[in-house]
Amino acid sequence: MSKRWYQESRRDPWRREARSKGYRARSAYKLKQIQDRFSVIRRGDNVLDIGCHPGGWTQVAVEESGENGLVIGVDLLATSPVEGARLIIGDATEESTLTQIRSLLGDEDLNVVISDISPRLTGRYDTDQAISLELSTTVLDVAIDVLIPGGTFVTKTFQGTGIEGLVEAAKDRFSNVQRFAPTASRNSSSETYLVCRNKLPSARKRAAGRTAMQQVSDHLSSLGIVTEPEDLDDGVTPMVGLRRLSRKEE
Ligand SMILES: C[S@@+](CC[C@H](N)C(=O)[O-])C[C@H]1O[C@@H](n2cnc3c(N)ncnc32)[C@H](O)[C@@H]1O
Repeated sequence: MSKRWYQESRRDPWRREARSKGYRARSAYKLKQIQDRFSVIRRGDNVLDIGCHPGGWTQVAVEESGENGLVIGVDLLATSPVEGARLIIGDATEESTLTQIRSLLGDEDLNVVISDISPRLTGRYDTDQAISLELSTTVLDVAIDVLIPGGTFVTKTFQGTGIEGLVEAAKDRFSNVQRFAPTASRNSSSETYLVCRNKLPSARKRAAGRTAMQQVSDHLSSLGIVTEPEDLDDGVTPMVGLRRLSRKEE
């Protein structure tokens, strides 16, 4: 092993632990800690892992759901095969990917959606947090679309502007929503996970027929943050929260 590997392992016990137990990513321990606390995946569950590459969460989901469960992982990037899981390369925000997921499910119900989805980070916190908020909100809408009533949803978020809008949108769709910060997250990280249990048969009236994305957009507007940039004549760039991503940003 290289000197660098020893140095990194000494600094990061979760990385060391993940390697020694055969997990592909240290993040596997974040899901394990979420599972220990909330038992989000039960034996025989059908689970969708959105943003699954390189496959650490998928490995844990396969272990927890057991041989009678079905685990589907999806990511923009190709993920090496995980025994017991079905993997899709695709953009989870696109309808064509959802069609593939539905076809893998066949007549089966989906009990759990887990998502550690993250944009490729730019290093500019506000930008990364805004893109992450958009992704997590999109994944919430996807989860609502595919989960059975009573189902469970877990997603990553970064602390910052607009997060309360996402929490509210989740509370309008699940009877129990909690935030959880696993100790396996890096100390410097501002990530936190939303654990949403018991999907309601339909969204609460407060959601007023809006998608989670529309609710979060409305929340950002109420904070004075432009969500759909307008063409401005004076060349001033407005403060932008939620917006469509260009391929380059992904
Ligand atoms: C932090 S990694 C996930 C790590 C994974 N949980 C594990 O334990 O191995 C976040 C992933 O989200 C994926 N991602 C980002 N945007 C996506 C999108 N629109 N559709 C699917 N996957 C996406 C990225 O490609 C990246 O692999």
